[in-house]
Amino acid sequence: MTGPILAIETSCDETAAAVVRGRRIVSSVVASQAQLHTPYGGVVPEVAARHHLGTVNGVVDRALEEAGLRLEDVEAVAVTQRPGLIGALLVGVATAKALAYAAGKPLVMVDHLHGHIAATWLEPLALDPPFVSLVASGGHTRLDLVEDYRRPVLLGGTIDDAAGEAVDKGARLLGLGYPGGAALERLAAGGDRTAFGFPVALSGRSQRDFSFAGVKTALLYRLRELGPAAEERRADLAASYQEAVMRPLADRLVEAAVDLGVPAVALGGGVAANGRLRELVAERAAPHGLRLGVPDIRLCTDNAAMIGAAAQFTDAVPWPEYLALDAVATAPPGGIAA
Ligand code: KG4
Ligand code: ZN
Repeated sequence: MTGPILAIETSCDETAAAVVRGRRIVSSVVASQAQLHTPYGGVVPEVAARHHLGTVNGVVDRALEEAGLRLEDVEAVAVTQRPGLIGALLVGVATAKALAYAAGKPLVMVDHLHGHIAATWLEPLALDPPFVSLVASGGHTRLDLVEDYRRPVLLGGTIDDAAGEAVDKGARLLGLGYPGGAALERLAAGGDRTAFGFPVALSGRSQRDFSFAGVKTALLYRLRELGPAAEERRADLAASYQEAVMRPLADRLVEAAVDLGVPAVALGGGVAANGRLRELVAERAAPHGLRLGVPDIRLCTDNAAMIGAAAQFTDAVPWPEYLALDAVATAPPGGIAA
């Protein structure tokens, strides 16, 4: 597609809309609900869906306004169809269908994870394949071989908790609020990452999967053992725990690229905000001369520009054939509906 695309994302707790033209982000608006869910220690699906409903029209209007465009000017509307919270997804899909139908435009149904991967295609990073991609967020952790943005090939993923979930649960055990990623990183900055040896599950070369349930339990046991003494070791615990989550992510990403003979690695998802993960990936990649594709943090966390990017590698459904299409909570077999 050469014309502007209006993209909408509502799969979790961010209401987002963007206008993307080719590799260029013309506008990108993200209204985060994170604060709304803080008292509950996690995203409450019903609260998220209701909030999207009240916010989405204003967010779309702002994205168009900032782009200096009217709905009639866009070439297509794109929306996250799956996977995510079903009520939240429905709000975006219904909105996108209504807008596209009213304006006589085609609709592109995008896979959220395809979006996280395609974020690296956008300027200024503009990463070209082949590369191995790691997407680590609150809901997903996966490795893909990207030889063609149209069809990322799943290499592996988590067999239990997502990396971001492990980060958030660890943060909670350490008495930090939700979402805990940034707070855990701040606490870890003053600690010794070698102080505690937390287990790394599924270690071993050519391993492509991840497991984070064990490390979370190990932290819980450490805290119990330490009792009141845990208070003054919090920074060391945070640093060691962060290391146990980030190290396998960096190791497996770089190993996969080396084993597959691919010249670059890329990061995506909210966990890619983590400075220690970025540092570990850079450290591991350097001896192999691998290029590093790390998008701006606003493109790593949930946003609609990445949905506009993936839309350009997904077949559009012509007007008005999409009216019967629906949101889907789950990921398809193989991981991405591209
Ligand atoms: O991609 P994202 O914004 O939303 C989902 O699709 O889940 O990712 C959110 C996740 C949360 O688990 C959050 O704690 C984590 O990303 N995160 C971080 C950092 N910032 C956000 N994890 C580690 N270090 C950070 N600095
Ligand atoms: Zn996401």
